[in-house]
Amino acid sequence: MVLQYVTPVAEKAGARQSVLVGQSGDFAEGSVKIVRFNREPVLLIHTSTGQFRALSARCTHLGCVVQYQESPVPHFGCNCHGSQFDMNGVNISGPAPRPLPPYRVTLSGSSIYVAKP
Ligand code: FES
Repeated sequence: MVLQYVTPVAEKAGARQSVLVGQSGDFAEGSVKIVRFNREPVLLIHTSTGQFRALSARCTHLGCVVQYQESPVPHFGCNCHGSQFDMNGVNISGPAPRPLPPYRVTLSGSSIYVAKP
């Protein structure tokens, strides 16, 4: 019972190791959308050069969900206590102590899958 209590949600039975999050046509180049990896919010980034990358959307301060903000320069901002992250997920201001953890993105045909690294 204690082990069940400390097991992270994403690793419980039924949690998937790789999750289909959409089709490549669903994500315009230069866009960012929040998708779900099991129950966790993930930033799926389709760069202007056509690459897909993914980062956790959980702020590394206290876990609020960060949002994509275009101005004054593209970045991710946390509305809870003001942390900001650059487009690579690096914490650049505010109380967040670490970068946003990356996820692995794979394409199978036009299907996009997200997985933990
Ligand atoms: S939870 Fe994001 S800055 Fe505090």
